[in-house]
Amino acid sequence: MSKKTVLTGITTTGTPHLGNYLGAIKPCIEASNNNDVNSFFFLADYHALIKCHDPERVAKSSREIAATWLAMGLDTDKATFYRQSDIPEIPELTWILTCMTSKGLMNRAHAYKGAVDANQEAGKTELDDGITMGLFSYPMLMAADILMFNADIVPVGKDQIQHIEMTRDIASRYNHTYGKLFHMPSAQVDEETQLVPGLDGRKMSKSYDNTLPLFCAPDEMYKLIKQIKTDIKQPGEPKDPDSSNVFQLYNYFADEQQSQQMRDKFVEGIAWGDAKKELFELVDSKLAKPREEYNRLMNDLGHVESVLLKGAEKARQSSAALMDEVRKASGIRPLTFVPEKTEQKVKKEKSSEQQLKAEQGRKRGILMQLKSVLAEVADSDDSQQAAKVLLAQKEAALDKLKNKAKEKAINELDVLKEELAQYL
Ligand code: TRP
Repeated sequence: MSKKTVLTGITTTGTPHLGNYLGAIKPCIEASNNNDVNSFFFLADYHALIKCHDPERVAKSSREIAATWLAMGLDTDKATFYRQSDIPEIPELTWILTCMTSKGLMNRAHAYKGAVDANQEAGKTELDDGITMGLFSYPMLMAADILMFNADIVPVGKDQIQHIEMTRDIASRYNHTYGKLFHMPSAQVDEETQLVPGLDGRKMSKSYDNTLPLFCAPDEMYKLIKQIKTDIKQPGEPKDPDSSNVFQLYNYFADEQQSQQMRDKFVEGIAWGDAKKELFELVDSKLAKPREEYNRLMNDLGHVESVLLKGAEKARQSSAALMDEVRKASGIRPLTFVPEKTEQKVKKEKSSEQQLKAEQGRKRGILMQLKSVLAEVADSDDSQQAAKVLLAQKEAALDKLKNKAKEKAINELDVLKEELAQYL
């Protein structure tokens, strides 16, 4: 069984938060420890430029995301961990795919459509106002990310499913036109970790400004946890764990026993302040060690950089080879290049010539063996009758034969029929 390739990208526009950790970093690192998969994880810094024109922010986010994945224990000997912009084949493939993508498909992409709708609602006459070609072309860059490594499985959030579908469309069009070079990827969406609640109860997301940064200082973390929205139930009043953000967050980090104990405390009426303190303590106990490693890495960025460059080198072993095929298949070739297909054809023609020769040789051999019986038929007074008898005998003998011997006898009979046709 060939290994499946799992691939995902992280846009470098923000600081990693608990939602990113639970929804992507943790499951991806866990999956990459499975020896049955090849994992590719990368910093999508070209994607960052689509929505962020603040160079400091993009650069800072790249440092933070790289250090976070490493601090959380990503094994870069197992997984290939790289930065999108270190792989020149990705923008190169983007162009070739751009030429295989219908504009109508891109018109339907959520990100672009959302921006057009917003302009319409704002009463703008120019519906493309403020929309860059980067935003419009976003799905093609993402398709290149995925197809460049022939990913089979792409773990993403729900909002990205459409992009994976578009990737499949684009890949099919390419494969149909130029030959099958790309795998069809599937999106993998983990429903459970999609809904990590933020401070205000909505999904934790930097766009809602409701996040708990993964590696902020402990007192900052505690301060934020104290801001988590709760109901107004008083200490001593029973509380419903299942509708509580505090409990849900606790649950993501708790083992079964801890989870049950906290559930009981909710029913017994734990005060919100105490529940939040326990949440902080649990989260802090899990993050203290990786935080130390994170801080160490952030003070040794030369090392992180070298890890990424090594990852890029590893990634380019695949991307350079596939890009070479893609270029050639599309007609972007050295002038002296002879397409393989023609070579195959020549080989085939040769081999059919050889086959014919072999066939003739075999026939000659059979004829030699049949020489005496054929002579008998020819010399017989009634050659027609003799030919009929001979064929009947040979045909009857076939039934008793098996496999190779039968095959040989059939070949012999064919030759015999040809030779005796003149008498029948
Ligand atoms: N667009 C993705 C997001 O915003 C990030 C991304 C870029 C990505 N390229 C990718 C995810 C390729 C999966 C595969 O979440």
